[in-house]
Amino acid sequence: MYVNNGLIMEKRIHFERLVIAAYRLPFKIVKTKGKNKVVQNSGGLVSAVLSLSESLKNDENQLHNNKIVWTGIADNQSSSVFFKKFRNDHFELFPVDLPPKLNELFYGGFCNDLIWPLFHYFTTYAVFDDVYFEAYKEANQKFCDEIVKITRPGDFIWVHDYQLLLLPGMIREKMPGVSIGFFLHIPFPSYELFRLLPRGWRECIIKGMLGADLLGFHTNDYTQHFLKSVRRTTGFECQQNVILTRNQIVKADAFPIGIDYSKFHDACLCMPVICEKKKIHKNLPGQKLIFSVDRLDYTKGLLLRLKGYETFLEKYPEWHSKVVFNMVVVPSRDHIEKYRTLKKEIESTVGRINGKYSSLSWRPVIYQYKSLSFDELISLYGASDVGLITPLRDGMNLVAKEYIACQNDNKGVLILSEMAGAASELSEAILINPVDNNEMSEAIFNALEMNQPEKTTRLGRMQKRISEYNVFTWAFDFMDQAWEVKRIQKQMSVRFINKTILSGIISAYKNACNRIFLLDYDGTLVSFEKYPEMATIDVNTLNILRKLLDNTKNQIAIISGRDRGFLEQQFDDMPVTLVAEHGYFIRKPGKSWESTVHSGEKWKDAVMPILKEYVNRCNGTFIEEKTGSLAWHYRNADVDFAQLRLHELRDDLAEVIRHKTNFEILEGNKVLEIKSGKYDKGQAALNLLSNGHFDFILAAGDDKTDEFLFKAVPESAYTIRVGMSPSLAKYNVSAYPVLLKLLKNLSAG
Ligand code: UDP
Ligand code: G6P
Repeated sequence: MYVNNGLIMEKRIHFERLVIAAYRLPFKIVKTKGKNKVVQNSGGLVSAVLSLSESLKNDENQLHNNKIVWTGIADNQSSSVFFKKFRNDHFELFPVDLPPKLNELFYGGFCNDLIWPLFHYFTTYAVFDDVYFEAYKEANQKFCDEIVKITRPGDFIWVHDYQLLLLPGMIREKMPGVSIGFFLHIPFPSYELFRLLPRGWRECIIKGMLGADLLGFHTNDYTQHFLKSVRRTTGFECQQNVILTRNQIVKADAFPIGIDYSKFHDACLCMPVICEKKKIHKNLPGQKLIFSVDRLDYTKGLLLRLKGYETFLEKYPEWHSKVVFNMVVVPSRDHIEKYRTLKKEIESTVGRINGKYSSLSWRPVIYQYKSLSFDELISLYGASDVGLITPLRDGMNLVAKEYIACQNDNKGVLILSEMAGAASELSEAILINPVDNNEMSEAIFNALEMNQPEKTTRLGRMQKRISEYNVFTWAFDFMDQAWEVKRIQKQMSVRFINKTILSGIISAYKNACNRIFLLDYDGTLVSFEKYPEMATIDVNTLNILRKLLDNTKNQIAIISGRDRGFLEQQFDDMPVTLVAEHGYFIRKPGKSWESTVHSGEKWKDAVMPILKEYVNRCNGTFIEEKTGSLAWHYRNADVDFAQLRLHELRDDLAEVIRHKTNFEILEGNKVLEIKSGKYDKGQAALNLLSNGHFDFILAAGDDKTDEFLFKAVPESAYTIRVGMSPSLAKYNVSAYPVLLKLLKNLSAG
């Protein structure tokens, strides 16, 4: 049991060591008064993970005796040498050494000149440069090499943030079975922005991320954006938050990062902080204090915040001399041109506002460009009357949560941008749009005038929430879910045809003397193509089938949804049984086509106009007409839009066939098919099986319509679903070439 903040957490860490991979090591060395001092790096990521590490170290029950191992880059070569020796029972650092030129192109270039602005919706700042991308790949590979060197069995590798999007995939290639989690600390943008990346880069990034077992985002919106990008970039099926990749399931979910609530809340009661708060109040007699602290960044909305405050001063002169805005900007990335320019703009705006409104005894803005010590930060959070946190876009924003945690005396009011991830949890803050300076100035006025009961109610609700879902809940929840995904993967791998299962199938095959193969066509013997007519069978596959047929103990039936003409073209010279249109027609070797179904075609007059309407309403879809059915294919349409239309189409069709008992709607792989008559692949299979005493049956298919087949065949049959979807089949293979390999194996036996 892990006790934190009065809450008993039953969750345990299932891994022995937590291997963190983040761009930066959590510390840097600063020289003060000729002495080297180890100080914490700034940013939400470092704050969160260090809190977790502290708590593991201080766990009195020693139930979480896990070690944290951290790989990242050091500020410079001498820090790297120093941190290589920095280790204790709970913590170990492994600096990754990147040549300065590479680091500049990777971090200054791809990370901060492209991904950072693009993912924060600053598209015009994004610089697309092939050299940057090459550096990004190289740097991620260097991290991978380090991780591979230090990882031991039983470790959980947790990769963090946008600098290392390719890393999970690279690690997976080297260590297929290891547990990997990935957490993105910035927003994942809408697909419309993500698609601005060149196609190759997009694919590389998504593939890299999908190397993880579990992907975490701050909000559900970011998760959904990511899932859409996965669908659009790879075509992988997503079942809610689970992605069915070629050979694995991967989960994506929202884990809003929290803070170490008690650390902040309790710190306000410490003597040095109480004294510091008194000092602040003494220096601002009779004045209310508005406070903000951010890293220097254009995403933080610093200029617009000053503008909003200026509008407030303009509109409410009665507040002059009675309010002070303390804006602290923490140095960050100031070697990058955009950041340097921003710094200058902030300084000149502060100068302008102070020049316009100051008096001998009052300065409306106190601007500081520096890092704050923990005590200074807590004192300012606690002493201020208003927290003004107004980013233009922010993955989460921990400052907002820390501000709330420090309101022990229920005095402060939080004004928060609705563009911060934190806004979805802190809905009792005064939420504003940071570009609307009138709204911001009104919010400042309302915050300053807010009565005590309202402040108490709002703060109480927010404090409850962030104290319960804190940084520990976040981390434990993430690690717990990563463990769960691994468990499901292991369970599924039992269903995958491995060596043992394969040898079982081969020996059953060898011992049998009357065998039948019931094989679906599309996605099972051939790949899925843009148009159905393009999916023709290739000569190697035909040779495998021919070889099987050379053995007189074997029969093959192709059980497909395709029409007669197409199947004839593919298999005309082969002695196979062909089942067309899901069982409407059957042709035995050397015989002609037969059908027991007599549905007529008149019904199509009612259905065809509806399907035509949907072809017009959903670009990229098309109709395939067969004797017994009509199919609406949407494989070439926008996946999400097609899903929407699919729901509507189902409803419209249900209306048409409401009073007709003889109709069925079949759903296959990116196709909806409507047919008249009670027949399916399962019945067709039963019909074939009734003609012989088979002692070896192998049935394989890749989509929902093949489930009828799996359901119908006897329990002793070997049933195989191609792909990752859950199925009635006994086994899965990842893709059709694996099935072909299996058939080839058998044909050799
Ligand atoms: N912070 C810091 N040094 C300071 C002031 C603040 O390290 O001088 C911390 C702050 O307490 C918070 C983090 O930096 O935990 C900022 O995280 P946030 O999510 O607000 O923004 P980010 O910097 O990650 O964009
Ligand atoms: C944000 C990012 C982190 C980054 C931090 C500081 O929190 O999500 O990945 O480390 O800012 O930025 P810096 O460029 O100084 O590392």
